[in-house]
Amino acid sequence: MKKIEAIIRPDKLEELKEALQAANVHGITIRQVLGCGNQHGWTEYYRSNEVLMNLLPKVELKIVANDSDVENIVSIIISIAKTGEVGDGKIFISDICECIRIRTEERGPSAI
Ligand SMILES: Nc1ncnc2c1ncn2[C@@H]1O[C@H](COP(=O)(O)OP(=O)(O)OP(=O)(O)O)[C@@H](O)[C@H]1O
Ligand SMILES: [Mg+2]
Repeated sequence: MKKIEAIIRPDKLEELKEALQAANVHGITIRQVLGCGNQHGWTEYYRSNEVLMNLLPKVELKIVANDSDVENIVSIIISIAKTGEVGDGKIFISDICECIRIRTEERGPSAI
C-alpha cells in the first residue's frame, strides 16, 4: 500500500475529484493548505492577480491505494493538474504499512 499526497492548484480540484471517482478511486482526503515551492510563491499568480505574499492557497489530496493502482492515479493527477506553469504542484508517494477499516476491523489492502 502507498500513500499518494498531491498538492495541486485549488481550481483543479473539482475536475480531478470527478476523474478519480470515474476511475473508481473512492477514498480521498482533501485539505486546503498554504504553501510555496521553488519560487517562494512570489512569481505565481492566483485568480489572475499577483498575490503579494509568499504562501499561496493550494489543495492537498491524500489517497492511500494498492501498489498496482498508484501509477494510474498519478497519471490522472498529472493529466488534470499540469498546466506547464510554475506552481502546478507536487506528488509525494510513501509506503503505508497498515490500513484498518474501523467498522469491520479488516486490515490490509482489502480495507482500502
Ligand atoms: N519540497 C516540498 N515539500 C513540501 N511541499 C512542497 C514542496 N515543494 C512544493 N510543495 C508544495 O507544493 C506547492 C506547489 O509547489 P510548486 O509546484 O510551486 O513546486 P516547485 O518545486 O516550485 O515547482 P515549479 O518550479 O514548477 O513551480 C507549494 O505551494 C507547496 O505547498
Ligand atoms: Mg513553484
